[in-house]
Amino acid sequence: MRVCESLHSNLNITPPGKEIIAKALLGDCKEVLKTIEDNSIDLIVTSPPYADSRSNTYGGVSPGNYVEWFLPISAELLRVMKPNGTFILNIKEKVVNGERHTYVIELILEMRKQGWLWTEEFIWHKKNCYPGKWPNRFRDAWERLLQFNKSKKFNMYQENVMVSMGDWAKSRLRNLSETDKTRDNSKVGSGFGKKVANWLDRDKVYPTNVLHMATECSNKNHSAVFPEFLPEWFMKLFTKEGNWVLDPFMGSGTTIKVAQRMLRNSIGIEVSKEYYEMAKSEIKEKELWLLEDQPVYETNRNW
Ligand SMILES: C[S@@+](CC[C@H](N)C(=O)[O-])C[C@H]1O[C@@H](n2cnc3c(N)ncnc32)[C@H](O)[C@@H]1O
Repeated sequence: MRVCESLHSNLNITPPGKEIIAKALLGDCKEVLKTIEDNSIDLIVTSPPYADSRSNTYGGVSPGNYVEWFLPISAELLRVMKPNGTFILNIKEKVVNGERHTYVIELILEMRKQGWLWTEEFIWHKKNCYPGKWPNRFRDAWERLLQFNKSKKFNMYQENVMVSMGDWAKSRLRNLSETDKTRDNSKVGSGFGKKVANWLDRDKVYPTNVLHMATECSNKNHSAVFPEFLPEWFMKLFTKEGNWVLDPFMGSGTTIKVAQRMLRNSIGIEVSKEYYEMAKSEIKEKELWLLEDQPVYETNRNW
């Protein structure tokens, strides 16, 4: 029986979402994903091992083989994700022989052929990256968060991630031009337009696609941990309570821990027994969801 089905039937969940499940599974995700039901996951958020990097800790994949290695996994992800779900892939191409390798670009092109839409790209600006000096480049302070979907109509709850207007309002809105007071249609004929004056009386705005977050330094037991804000932000944006979140490269389990805190069901897959045990020890596989205790999200963080 596939994972979601068996979890549901074992737990006898009626109606769905009363009990929150966080399931850590041990094994190679390419195989373990086959046990997950079709069209059952609302959000996939993950950070696979980067090409060749950290091979001393959990085995790298060479840049030249990265696409070939990843495509069978992304095929399974495409199968398990709901038609209105979203896949967020945290990845960054490394430098090989003085050039940025092209495997991320090649992967995007191949995933599009597989049936994915490459809908958006967020930038994770790593606020606390190490200082350093390199002969022909500056320090790397950002990573890609590629967004893929199965269809152009996917669930997105934009109000959940609004940010405070900040100082921009004071300076920009004080001296409105005539264009600002009327609708300013796109010069490139996209059909989009903006009326800046609409934002005069508001204290919250929608965020940009650049997320300013420090990397995680506190978890010493895994070398590449997500900051909790990262899966949290995407869960707010793309899921509701009771939805299913998947991290096929679970590592220390940040995604499933955050999912449980946010009352989302989750599945994490990890190939290393050590990391699997670590994640498992920090989650409760089932937790009762008390309807009267639903959290109110803080929506004014300045990412
Ligand atoms: C970049 S880390 C993920 C860290 C995670 N986001 C966290 O917050 O702890 C990638 C993880 O994928 C695991 N991994 C590598 N290949 C895998 C595979 N084929 N299936 C499942 N897990 C794998 C590694 O052991 C590693 O823990």
